[in-house]
Formats: sequence, structure tokens, C-alpha cells
Amino acid sequence: MKILIFGATGFIGKELISHLQKQFSINVISRDYQKAKNLFLNSTNIIKWDYEDINQLSEILCDIDVVINLAGENIASKLWTKNQKQKIISSRLKIGRLITEAIAKAKKRPKLLMQSSAIGYYGYMTPDKCDESSSNGKGFLAEVTSQWEKSTEGVVKLGVKRVIIRTGVVLGNSGGMFPQIVKPIKLFLGTNLGNGKNIISWIHIKDEINAIEYLINHTEAKGIYNLVAPKPVSSMQLNHAVGKNLKRPIWLRIPRFLILLLLGEMGKELLLSSQLVIPHKLQQEGFVFRYNDIDDAVKSLIKEKAV
Ligand SMILES: NC(=O)c1ccc[n+]([C@@H]2O[C@H](COP(=O)([O-])OP(=O)(O)OC[C@H]3O[C@@H](n4cnc5c(N)ncnc54)[C@H](OP(=O)(O)O)[C@@H]3O)[C@@H](O)[C@H]2O)c1
Repeated sequence: MKILIFGATGFIGKELISHLQKQFSINVISRDYQKAKNLFLNSTNIIKWDYEDINQLSEILCDIDVVINLAGENIASKLWTKNQKQKIISSRLKIGRLITEAIAKAKKRPKLLMQSSAIGYYGYMTPDKCDESSSNGKGFLAEVTSQWEKSTEGVVKLGVKRVIIRTGVVLGNSGGMFPQIVKPIKLFLGTNLGNGKNIISWIHIKDEINAIEYLINHTEAKGIYNLVAPKPVSSMQLNHAVGKNLKRPIWLRIPRFLILLLLGEMGKELLLSSQLVIPHKLQQEGFVFRYNDIDDAVKSLIKEKAV
């Protein structure tokens, strides 16, 4: 099976490729051809594409079975100015629309489009437990994910199966939130943000990758899937799990008002958000999570880092 990945040079993409290359033929389109070449060496085929020429992308797609779209401006790397928020949205919509247009023109279409999304779809404060049937919530990320998902919905009418992966907070050592949590705790600066009671719907990077592999191989899988561990925890529990494993105290607190003052909307949606999301469909279908428990997940990541 031939897979084409957009956004492959990021945190999830790199881990995904190192796992999937054992079974599949992996192709990558990156904005930075040379960076991708250096990163993946001979393990993947790096395809040159200018992110404009639809006819060329259509031709490329004729030889592809599965497209995975992970690409988009990082949501946490820069302050959410008006300009940055526009970049976060437009980078995602542009690629989604280009993929959809190219699939429409392709003489032979891929069987599956896996479209990345996030649990931000349900809003930054979910009042209740959310599963895949829950509605679109409030906030900037709810708006981004809703538009992002819509950008590729056209492929379904073209006979291409679409799977949307609404991913939670991915915990891994090579990117995302986890290294940012570990760093201050290691330096004896363990800090709770706000009251620490906000709920984090997390997933271990290995389960994220295994779930994506499962959704590729499971021919009946279609529609929306929440990629989160079955047991969400409070941010305080997550911090304490890290502190316990590193034998460090969590003794400081940054009050909510200060986070809002310094980071505004970004702080509210990324640091203080509370989302209780469950992986209803994966569980119903019998997908087995390797890491259900936050202590096991944190322990494995800290051990991996120490090796
Ligand atoms: N990590 C998480 O906890 C998490 C949680 C929920 C959802 N997600 C979503 O899952 C996707 C993958 O996550 P990730 O953590 O691997 O993201 P990441 O590390 O930020 O990587 C995203 C990739 O997208 C491409 N990209 C970056 N800026 C872009 C821009 N302005 N225009 C077009 N492409 C751009 C880059 O690939 P090239 O330079 O090779 O083109 C980059 O490697 C993201 O879209 C993210 O929003 C992640």
C-alpha cells in the first residue's frame, strides 16, 4: 500500500513514518524538500511539489492509496496575534482545499483520506463528556477545526473514504506539550496553572500512532474518531505524575488572571482549557490502548528519555 503524508516533518509525522515504513511504502510532500530529504534519508520517497500545481498533484495521487493530511501552522509556537491566527487557519484550509481539488481531478483516486483535526472542535470548555457525536463548541480552535474538517469534506462525494482524527494532547518526548511540562519540573520549578482542575484529554504518542495504523488497516473505519486515552486527567494530576517520576515537587502556582493577562485568548484555550473527551468509537470497535493510565504513560516517556 502506498501512503502520501503532508506535514510529515512535524512531531506526529516523524513518529508515524518511523512506524509505518515497516509495512507501507511512504511518500512525503513537504514545503522544505531538502529538510525532508535529510530527515528521512532513504526510508521514504520525498516528492517535489510547489503547493500550487493541481494537475501535478492529481498525477501524483493516481499512484497513492492513502493520503494523510497533518499539515498546518503550529498552534502553540507563537503568540496568537491577528496575523498568526490567520496563518493557523489559512495554512490548514489551503492544503485541505488543494488536496480535495487534486483528488477531484485525479484519473485514479486514493481509497482513503485521513484528515487531521483536534479535540478543540468541542470547544475549550466542554461542559460534559464529549464523544464523536458531540457538537462543535466555542472558541478559536473550535472554529479552526470546524473549517479544517470542512476543507476536505468534498472527497466523500467523490467516492473517497474519509477518516477524521480528532486528536487530544499528544504526550511524547520529541514535540508537543510534554517536554514543556517536564523542563520546569526537572529544574524544581513544578507549577500548576490556574487551579489545576482543568481536564486534559491526553494520548500517548505510541497510542496515537497505533490508532492511525489501526484506522488505515481497518477497512470499515470511516468518519470521525477521537484519538484520546480513555482516562482523561486534571492538569494537576498530569503535573504530579511527572513530579512523582522525576522525584520533584509541584509547589508553585501561576494564577489564572496572570495567564490571561500575559497570553490572552491563547492562554485561555491552550493552557486553561478543560476538555473531557472520550474515544467512544475506538473503544466500541475494540481498539486496545497501550497507555490507559497517566502514571504508566509518563513513566514510559521519562524512562525513554533517560535511555
Ligand atoms: N501535537 C499535538 O498534541 C496535536 C494535538 C491535536 C492535533 N494536532 C494536529 O495534528 C497535526 C500534526 O501535529 P504535529 O504536532 O505533528 O504538528 P507540527 O509538529 O507543528 O507539524 C506540522 C507540520 O505541518 C507543516 N506546516 C507547518 N507550518 C505550516 C504552514 N504554515 N503551512 C503549511 N504547512 C505547515 C510542517 O511540515 P512541512 O514543513 O514538512 O511542510 C510541519 O512539520 C497538526 O496539524 C496539529 O494541529 C496535534
